[in-house]
Amino acid sequence: MEFTLTTTQSRDIETPAFVMLCFSDEPPAAEAAGGVLKMMHESGEFTGKANETAVVHRPEGMKAQRLLLVGCGEKAKFTPREMRVAGGVAARALQARSIQQAAIRLEGVTGSPAMLRALVEGLMAGSFEPDQYKTEKKNGGKLLERVEISCLEPTAELRAALETGQITAEAQNWTRALVNEPGNVLTPRVLADRARAMAEECGLACEILDEPRMRQLGFHTLLGVAQGSAEPPVMILLKYRPESPATADHLALVGKGVTFDTGGISIKPSDGMEKMKYDMAGAAAVLGAMRAIARLKPPVAVTACAPCVENMPGPKAQRPGDIVRTYQGKTVEVLNTDAEGRLILADALTYMVRNEGATHLADAATLTGAIAVALAHVYAGAFSNDEAWQQRVLEAARSAGERIWPFPMDADYRELLKSAFADLANIGGRWGGSITAAKFLEEFVEGKPWVHLDIAGVAWLEEAKPWMAKGPTGFAVRTFIELARGWA
Ligand code: BES
Ligand code: MN
Ligand code: ZN
Repeated sequence: MEFTLTTTQSRDIETPAFVMLCFSDEPPAAEAAGGVLKMMHESGEFTGKANETAVVHRPEGMKAQRLLLVGCGEKAKFTPREMRVAGGVAARALQARSIQQAAIRLEGVTGSPAMLRALVEGLMAGSFEPDQYKTEKKNGGKLLERVEISCLEPTAELRAALETGQITAEAQNWTRALVNEPGNVLTPRVLADRARAMAEECGLACEILDEPRMRQLGFHTLLGVAQGSAEPPVMILLKYRPESPATADHLALVGKGVTFDTGGISIKPSDGMEKMKYDMAGAAAVLGAMRAIARLKPPVAVTACAPCVENMPGPKAQRPGDIVRTYQGKTVEVLNTDAEGRLILADALTYMVRNEGATHLADAATLTGAIAVALAHVYAGAFSNDEAWQQRVLEAARSAGERIWPFPMDADYRELLKSAFADLANIGGRWGGSITAAKFLEEFVEGKPWVHLDIAGVAWLEEAKPWMAKGPTGFAVRTFIELARGWA
């Protein structure tokens, strides 16, 4: 999507569609569009409530061919979050009408760099359709192509915000397309190929650990999950090193890459199992974040790590009751082969500390169904061993407009992972499933500051929203970008 910044007055912009952001508590001026807006407001046809849209053709006194009215709710409650949604609503409303060019005016509350960035992110995320495999695209594949953004003065700050928003949203959509790939196409090795190609394109270093290498290192927990599949596992490493680092810190972003999760021998019910192609959304998010990080060049060293496997049943599959030794050294009793994410992440986390020298860790994983029981599909859960580090991640999430809520991590929860025959079990029983999963991971970060994001509830949108298509959301991409960008 192309953007231009201009200072043209709203009435003078020649465009197929001028997007007008409207607030529910700010009735239109009597003369706006020759009184049509006022009429619509009074009749209740369009009141400015969030997500409402309406189209007015040939608005009087304007050069635009149409006005697209987009409801934004109450003006005092309008934050970049609402702006991102409004951008998405606008993009989807335009595309539904096959309109590929539009214009908008930003001033007053909508005029800040943060608002511009949110608008761009919303427009681009809203424009995305997970239709790689559809022969006939929605509206003939006519996506929104060009948006003119008019402002009071195109300052350097506004230009920078525009570029950041574009790079961020492009990375988020890249991640969404990857998550949308089905399990038959996107095997661990194909995911590694995609990561390598992207790294080359963006100037990142890429290293792939193959199965023999992981055996040599002693990744027995990861290999135990992988052994049921005909597809060999890989571990993807993407490295970004700044030219002039602000500190000696080294941020590790780790993402769960289960390209398909059947549950293994502890097999999942068939109803809804097709969705388990998104069990690599964490891996896709860290890779997508690296794509933006390579372009935005934050002042901190970042390495992304994606352990990738397919979790399958079969004659070679891991059995319930198997005991495996982690790379870290502890033994694990695999009581449920469907709790596989924590097994592959355990080896990856330890590797990032021991072999790559990570000083700060953040992981994203579609780890537990229980997180959606706790938070529905609204918030992701955060789990950490370090209050200050967690605060930084939550702050990054807030500024990126992603909703993440912290959970308790008291030692009592570790008790639930006790095993009769090994150092720990891979499941903790009925209660607090997302917390016990996080306590399991904590055992493998070697005491380094670490935050785990359970994105199982938010990485996939069950129903299309007015501002976003059904399917992958690209959750955590924006938070990770912001975390690296804000490094002090
Ligand atoms: N990938 C799933 C978690 C998941 C569930 C993601 C639903 C998205 C939607 C994970 O590997 C898993 O199967 N977790 C189990 C853990 C249990 C066996 C302790 C779960 O949540 O049921
Ligand atoms: Mn599972
Ligand atoms: Zn899984």
